[in-house]
Amino acid sequence: MASSMDFFDAVRARRSIRRFLPEPVPPEVIEKALDAAILAPNSSNTQTWDFHWVRTPERKARLVELCLGQSAARTASDLMVIVADPRTWRRSLPELQAWVRSVGAPRPVQVYYDKLIPFTYRWGFLNSLAPIKWLISFLPGLFRPMPRGPHTRRDGQEVAIKSAALAAENFVLAISAQGYDTCMMEGFDAWRVRRMLGLGSAASVVMVIAVGRSAPDGTWGPQLRLDREKVIHRS
Ligand SMILES: Cc1cc2nc3c(=O)[nH]c(=O)nc-3n(C[C@H](O)[C@H](O)[C@H](O)COP(=O)(O)O)c2cc1C
Repeated sequence: MASSMDFFDAVRARRSIRRFLPEPVPPEVIEKALDAAILAPNSSNTQTWDFHWVRTPERKARLVELCLGQSAARTASDLMVIVADPRTWRRSLPELQAWVRSVGAPRPVQVYYDKLIPFTYRWGFLNSLAPIKWLISFLPGLFRPMPRGPHTRRDGQEVAIKSAALAAENFVLAISAQGYDTCMMEGFDAWRVRRMLGLGSAASVVMVIAVGRSAPDGTWGPQLRLDREKVIHRS
């Protein structure tokens, strides 16, 4: 098992690698990174994410094709697809409800999981519940701060995508901490990837992550970032 490095070293070591060495990544490195991925913070702990580790040579070859033949995908040892599906709150709810009771969480938290989550995460056929939800938040919202969603299926997808993206970041940092490299990719044919993985229509393919060991010319150059004062705002 590879040793792991300090958090800030791992953050600094992570780069988007476009060319990997032809060297397999030990499966336990990927498993450890998956363990880190599922520890990411996520909306209401509903864990509306799935991780598809595409492993057989045939399926990998197909996924490389669907990643538009990008060199990061082509040369990777492993490909991990991060999926967000807002409907999977139903999979988590019974365990969450049991958990809030077992830990003796305050009554409002129990109500949140018993009543509010099922209401918030449902959008109804063709978003039929959205106008009701919108009215409930809009009218009181004229006078006091109110949550402004999620109302629609798209809103639900956005919430799930945020959580899945955090899991993706945990995953790549955990790979980096173990001395291997990654490239997050959104350059793929999402419709075909969804079909390949047999995903439902509400599922979003958030990222395909290429994993491997960087070739000496793995990056296009040194890491570029805007001056921090251009993006950090203090008030
Ligand atoms: C959401 C997302 C999608 C990305 N898609 C691709 C991609 O399809 N192909 C690629 O080569 N790099 C992709 N990248 C990598 C970025 O180009 C890269 O993070 C950025 O240029 C900064 O470089 P660094 O990661 O080395 O710091 C993506 C990164 C993110 C976060």
